[in-house]
Amino acid sequence: MKTVTCTAPVNIAVIKYWGKKDEDLILPTNSSLSATLGQDELRAKTTVAVDSSFKEDKMWLNGKEEGVVSKRIQNVFRETRKRKGNQDSVDGLNQKIHICSENNFPTAAGLASSAAGYACLVYSLSKLFNVQGEISDIARLGSGSACRSIYGGFVEWQMGSLSDGSDSIAKQVTHDHHWPEMCILVLVVSDQKKHTGSTQGMQISVQNSTLLQKRIEIVPNRIKNITKAIIDKDFVTFAEITMKDSNQFHAICLDTYPPISYLTDVSRQIISFVHQFNDHCQQTKVAYTFDAGPNACLYLLEEDLPRVVSLVNHYFPPQNNGLTLTIQGRPVTLQ
Ligand code: DP6
Repeated sequence: MKTVTCTAPVNIAVIKYWGKKDEDLILPTNSSLSATLGQDELRAKTTVAVDSSFKEDKMWLNGKEEGVVSKRIQNVFRETRKRKGNQDSVDGLNQKIHICSENNFPTAAGLASSAAGYACLVYSLSKLFNVQGEISDIARLGSGSACRSIYGGFVEWQMGSLSDGSDSIAKQVTHDHHWPEMCILVLVVSDQKKHTGSTQGMQISVQNSTLLQKRIEIVPNRIKNITKAIIDKDFVTFAEITMKDSNQFHAICLDTYPPISYLTDVSRQIISFVHQFNDHCQQTKVAYTFDAGPNACLYLLEEDLPRVVSLVNHYFPPQNNGLTLTIQGRPVTLQ
């Protein structure tokens, strides 16, 4: 038997991916950009094994056996097997694979669990099969945002223009230690499964949100400006673009018919808290961003962390509304 175990962290988008132009190949309607968290924080851990005695492909997710018949899993298997390296003893095409994966955070609570899960699966399979070169496009076949978790630091998923998706890949914008003062604080408002999954939500938005069409024109400039802000470590510009992009994404969700609303009253209180805090400091010190769920991710610099944490604890005590401070993360590389 040959086994490989890897971990892959969650990534938190500052320029959101929301919409596909190809559902099978998972080709996005816009490029996106995120920071990948550290290995010890919110992460997926996956063990893959091949053995001649295995009769069929099998997968366990957080201890429970799941089917491997989904098109996405099958696409990932097929593509990884196809790219198997030569010098390996593993027979990629014929031997069956067993996968065991676990998250150290709630699955499907809007915390990008599928991103870490698929990135981890593809990375582990690529080690098992000795795949060389680009693998972010294989991770993309599992879940779009997963391609960004293949790298640490700030990462752009370039939408690409080729119909086979070969140029729709993730590129590292800065290496993992470029901005060590940058922290991400996740405020867990709810760990319940989201009512409308990202895949389904973005499908409806593409069908009928006119704002989404406008956004496609807006994103390239945002990516350009936020990339410069990251390279220059210009927190104020970075924060402003991040918050505007999160707000625009949720505006698209509301512009979708029937509307999708991921934010709760507590999420909105967090937004208002951040703006009041920034006003009070007379400088932008904290940025919020929300994915397809009510949980807030705050980007801030380490020097402001103690003050923000104590204010959050004061205004959002866990016993009153279920809000919990979970992590303080810094981007690092996938090992
Ligand atoms: C709001 O990557 O989960 O988190 O490609 O259908 O699996 P699929 O969608 P997914 O969507 C993530 C959407 C988002 C924004 C982002 O991470 O960029």
